[in-house]
Amino acid sequence: MTNFEFFNPTKIVFGTETIAKLDQLVPANARVMILLGGESARKNGTVAEVRAALGSREVHEFNGIEPNPTYETLMQAVEIIRAEKLDFLLAVGGGSVIDGTKFIAAAVPFAGEPWDILTTFGQTITSALPFGTVLTLPATGSEMNHGAVITQKATHTKLPFMNPLVFPQFSILDPSKTFTLPTRQIANGVVDAFVHTVEQYLTYPVNGMVQDRYAEGLLNILIEIGPKVLANPQDYDLRANLMWAATQALNGLIGAGVPQDWSTHMIGHELTALFDIDHARTLAIVLPANLVLRSESKREKLLQYADRVWHITAGTEEERIAAAINKTREFFEAMGIKTRLADYDLGAAVIDTVIAKLEAHGMTALGERQDVTLAMSRQILENSL
Ligand code: NZQ
Ligand code: ZN
Repeated sequence: MTNFEFFNPTKIVFGTETIAKLDQLVPANARVMILLGGESARKNGTVAEVRAALGSREVHEFNGIEPNPTYETLMQAVEIIRAEKLDFLLAVGGGSVIDGTKFIAAAVPFAGEPWDILTTFGQTITSALPFGTVLTLPATGSEMNHGAVITQKATHTKLPFMNPLVFPQFSILDPSKTFTLPTRQIANGVVDAFVHTVEQYLTYPVNGMVQDRYAEGLLNILIEIGPKVLANPQDYDLRANLMWAATQALNGLIGAGVPQDWSTHMIGHELTALFDIDHARTLAIVLPANLVLRSESKREKLLQYADRVWHITAGTEEERIAAAINKTREFFEAMGIKTRLADYDLGAAVIDTVIAKLEAHGMTALGERQDVTLAMSRQILENSL
């Protein structure tokens, strides 16, 4: 196991009827800005519950943070919060609203051009407004981590940033708030959480027994409940387990003390920024081809994955690895998520554009060994046609 420091200050409040606890979680004298996406949280009554819980506090609302939140939209919120001197943010929504709120929290006190937060991957953040979240979509883990991904619409640039100053103070996870999710978003959530786990697990062995078994547990749970969550949209226990699994998949715990990959995510971000494909769907396109190409450098962990996650024990090593990667692809497809660029009407002609974007963003040495060059990213994309 490699040396690590682990720190996660986000308080989780989990279960039904928990939104009322906002009254204790948000300071009594706070001047609050609620940040929202489209209409979903209003339509299913979450906004009304949040407002009731906040009682007589001064509350403002900013609507319209879009999926894959844009710098352009978020800066409108920054201007209002600065002008009104609001001092507490409350994100109500999925990963996009939470990520957007993290950016806003850092951008409000930022001296200079806030886009620099992205170009420095968060290193230039020196302070941030406090914020909490009410999660409505289990997927990203953003509710319990200090990362966010923001898109500049004008340039089709989607970049991540991280900073410990943007951990949420608290996150309310009420699984019943996810009952209104469309099938597509449930499927996205399962696949995103699955790939988060894979990015921190399928690398090379460092004898991190706790991290490995924990990651394998999460993968097994997602494989077991993924199809059931789709088939039983009103089952509370399934929703609760999906929600907690997705949070655990990216709250820093399974990634501490082990190598991490993230090349599938970085290539996927370019596909979203250029072609507006849902985040999880880009991962389902990239991951199988990525694993095939790098099966030699990931050999030991792929064999462990085949055995412990897919229970594949027969055949040569090559056959077991191939079978495990096929099972992964089949799982995504069974969740209703297509795994080929062609399924999204994209052909070989787009690959040059994606590679140029990766180069422009400095994504030229990705992966746990920094050996995923642009040539390899090109190969991955060609193999995912
Ligand atoms: O906008 P509204 O009307 O709220 O509708 C949303 C949106 O259209 C809808 N939705 C959310 N909760 C709902 C609901 N509809 C009905 N009932 C509910 N309870 O779902 C749609 C998608 O929402 P979004 O927040 O975009 O989805 P998700 O949570 O998958 O977030 C994706 C974003 O997170 C980033 C992605 O890149 C992407 O921008 N990620 C953030 C990470 C992080 N911070 O650690 C890690 C991830 O790898 C990921 O990159
Ligand atoms: Zn993701």
